[in-house]
Amino acid sequence: MLEPERLAALRAQFAQSYGDPPPTLLARAPGRVNLIGEHTDYNGLPVFPMALQRNVAYLVRPRADARVRLVNREARYGAREFEIERAIPPFEQGDWGNYVKAAAQMLATRFPLRRGFDAAVDGNVPLAAGLSSSSATLVGALLALMRINQVELPLPELQELAAQAERYVGVAGGGMDQAISLGGRAGHALVIDFHPVRMQPTPMPGDWRFVVANTLVMAEKSGAAREAYNARTRECREALARFLAHPSAAGLPTSYYGLVHGVPLEGLLTLAGQALEGELQKRFRHVVSEGARVEEARLAMLRGDARAFGRLMDASHRSLREDYEVSSSELDQLVAIAREAGALGARLSGAGFGGCSVALCLEREAPRVVEALARRYYAARPAFSGEALFIAEASDGARVVEL
Ligand code: GLA
Repeated sequence: MLEPERLAALRAQFAQSYGDPPPTLLARAPGRVNLIGEHTDYNGLPVFPMALQRNVAYLVRPRADARVRLVNREARYGAREFEIERAIPPFEQGDWGNYVKAAAQMLATRFPLRRGFDAAVDGNVPLAAGLSSSSATLVGALLALMRINQVELPLPELQELAAQAERYVGVAGGGMDQAISLGGRAGHALVIDFHPVRMQPTPMPGDWRFVVANTLVMAEKSGAAREAYNARTRECREALARFLAHPSAAGLPTSYYGLVHGVPLEGLLTLAGQALEGELQKRFRHVVSEGARVEEARLAMLRGDARAFGRLMDASHRSLREDYEVSSSELDQLVAIAREAGALGARLSGAGFGGCSVALCLEREAPRVVEALARRYYAARPAFSGEALFIAEASDGARVVEL
């Protein structure tokens, strides 16, 4: 469930911070890398992520009262404490403890929550890197609190609840990160649809490798990138409303989902050319074309057609860079290096504005791609700790176990 050294270090920290009795639960929630389907979830269109081997772990001792106490193995994340209530005042914006508060408040509004916990927390998902360290932090706390308070929910409801919970931090996010952290499956990537959450686990072909590379430019979802992200969600709503208000859209389905499933893409793009202009036209074009790419990518993975999947990743990146305008020079550089070194496709993953790129290559090409990224991107960046560049392993979703 957890690497033995990590568990031992967490136990030691728990003992040092809280003393006896020892913790009784371990909750673990993975980060994710999104393979394709970016900035689609909050528009009601599917995403195609996989859960990672990297996760956030909570070593937990239930309490008899409604207090939550947290210590983090990472020293820069100081100890935190709060009381579970139906309206929990947030810590400062960007504070790591807010993700735990988000989980607690959401549960407390839905269930009588009587018991909090003392926990030691350790994460090895790179932070603010577009790999969902924040949702993993939230989901781990959510599962621990549910277990302690004997609350149970069917998975799709829990995925929806976790997505709503994260809005506590002020990001109008979609549901991808929480859904995959809860629902991930080892050896699979998952096409996920929303409202309600539906998952199609798709087996990962044995010789495919997804190389993740961190720009080392922080894309802090609770900080600076928040405004840019929220602006995109507004632009998408406005683009749809204006599109539908145009006479040439009369009689068409009224949601992005309906449009992508009911109108051939080319026709849709032609109509968008008539109904929209400027930024709104570009945002609309990204959303509908990216939505259509997810289904094509799922079919490509099922056939084991890595070249087709790679082409879709390339098209996704182009669209994110030119139409959605969320790439950066560092992301473009990582994508270009991976492609030149033999990757079949590469793109930014997550919200953009920094964070990570992901590249698809066949197993035999992977060492070359990793070597090229290390040499051409990281050699000049002293912050590179060996953590920034790795091959993703499709992993299981979040779990709680009794110790
Ligand atoms: C962030 C959000 C997700 C999703 C991605 C972009 O990770 O949390 O819900 O919108 O950005 O695809």
